Amino acid sequence: MEKSRGRTIFVCQQCGREELKWLGRCPNCQEWNSFVETAVTTPASSSRTTYPVSPPQELSQVTIDAAERFALPLTEFNRVLGGGLVPGSLMLIGGEPGIGKSTLLLQVAGLVAEARGKVVYVSGEETVRQTKLRSERLGISGEGLYLLAETNLEAILSQIEQLQPGLVIIDSIQTVYLSEVNAAPGSITQVRQCTLELMRWAKSGAVPVFITGHVTKEGAIAGPRVLEHIVDMVLYLEGEPFSAYRVLRCVKNRFGSTNEIGVFEMKEQGLIEVENPSQAFLSQRGSEAIGSVVVPVLEGSRPLLVEIQALTNPTSFGLPRRTANGVEFNRVLLITAVLSRRLGLKLGNQDIMVNVTGGLKIGEPAADLGIALAIVSSFRDAEVDPQLAIVGEVGLSGELRAVAQLDRRVNEAARLGFKRCLVPKVGAKVSPVPKGIELIPAGSVREAVAAGVARGKTKR
Ligand SMILES: Nc1ncnc2c1ncn2[C@@H]1O[C@H](COP(=O)(O)OP(=O)(O)OP(=O)(O)O)[C@@H](O)[C@H]1O
Ligand SMILES: [Mg+2]
Ligand SMILES: [Zn+2]
Repeated sequence: MEKSRGRTIFVCQQCGREELKWLGRCPNCQEWNSFVETAVTTPASSSRTTYPVSPPQELSQVTIDAAERFALPLTEFNRVLGGGLVPGSLMLIGGEPGIGKSTLLLQVAGLVAEARGKVVYVSGEETVRQTKLRSERLGISGEGLYLLAETNLEAILSQIEQLQPGLVIIDSIQTVYLSEVNAAPGSITQVRQCTLELMRWAKSGAVPVFITGHVTKEGAIAGPRVLEHIVDMVLYLEGEPFSAYRVLRCVKNRFGSTNEIGVFEMKEQGLIEVENPSQAFLSQRGSEAIGSVVVPVLEGSRPLLVEIQALTNPTSFGLPRRTANGVEFNRVLLITAVLSRRLGLKLGNQDIMVNVTGGLKIGEPAADLGIALAIVSSFRDAEVDPQLAIVGEVGLSGELRAVAQLDRRVNEAARLGFKRCLVPKVGAKVSPVPKGIELIPAGSVREAVAAGVARGKTKR
């Protein structure tokens, strides 16, 4: 049945929920005042271009060319993609404003244009002149790279059709719009319809397409979050404003494994690959090792050494505060509780800050023990052995739990010259133990503290 023109529905701009009437609060995501009246649209492609309809193919007759994946001369980027660009894939790069999305994609555009031919870079946010200035700073010759400052997606697609490029970049998805969709650019309806349209286009011509989208700290703004299930791949560019390191993280990949990361450093010439991230993350480490520990974490298939710092300070008024930067807030609360109850540390009148240097975000509980020792070290004003790497998950009764892939972590610690590694007694099997490093198994946080934190200046 044909839907009558002029009918409207209400769409939550936070999660995409559709309702027939306006609601003050979204029943799905609980957001207030998020519904916006939106015209019901006919499916985006009905009125325009028809794409070749492909008949069903017998699976056994489908051939796949393994060489189809195009590897970029940018190792850190390839790793995250799972080897290289897959033809016809639609990839989303999300990140906070100013983190470096445009920079990264302009670099990628330049590299692909050099190696493979035409690339179209569509910018709805910057003029052609601005993009040119940036490309000069990044040292991109620009041959084969076509800039288009346009926001109308119909116009963009008809331009691209003529050029037949090997890669298309849309920066950003929140600025483009389809004129037949009756909603503002950046609204959830536009963003979703435009993405679907680009998906169809990418698949029909087997051209890889990147789109960028900004997210705020809370992951709000119509965009990335609602697009995650549409696109083939979701990458996030992360980092702290005060740090030059940027981590590109894959959270969804239809063609490869997720959770791989690439590490870059933001410089004048753009994002430069960091070949030895462990070394980079530890380079700022001072010789005074109070409240500072080194933890081998696992990012995808890759072990990385990071520095975790803690600072305890008597609460001056009100409730003691806890802050967590780069580690989960709830893990800090849990570890603090364990230290209070199982080790008798009087942390009830202490503010506690935990920070991961370099702007990396650690999601795995294997960093628990490191956090615990950093807190104890700061609280007691006592040094942690600077040659010690620390890994282990902390349980509620203070016991240490095994961590995955211990051998890779220990190997990375040994590679960077650490002499000892504190590990959970359970599952403390590493064979062979790499040269130059000694394993120190501990069964509980208490044992680990005794082994890893020197006797403090103050008796606590
Ligand atoms: N001359 C420069 N030298 C070094 N770094 C620079 C220079 N100019 C810009 N930058 C860096 O590039 C960053 C901006 O990157 P970029 O525009 O790629 O981010 P973005 O994620 O695309 O942002 P937006 O969401 O605003 O589009 C700045 O925050 C800054 O760190
Ligand atoms: Mg940008
Ligand atoms: Zn909602």
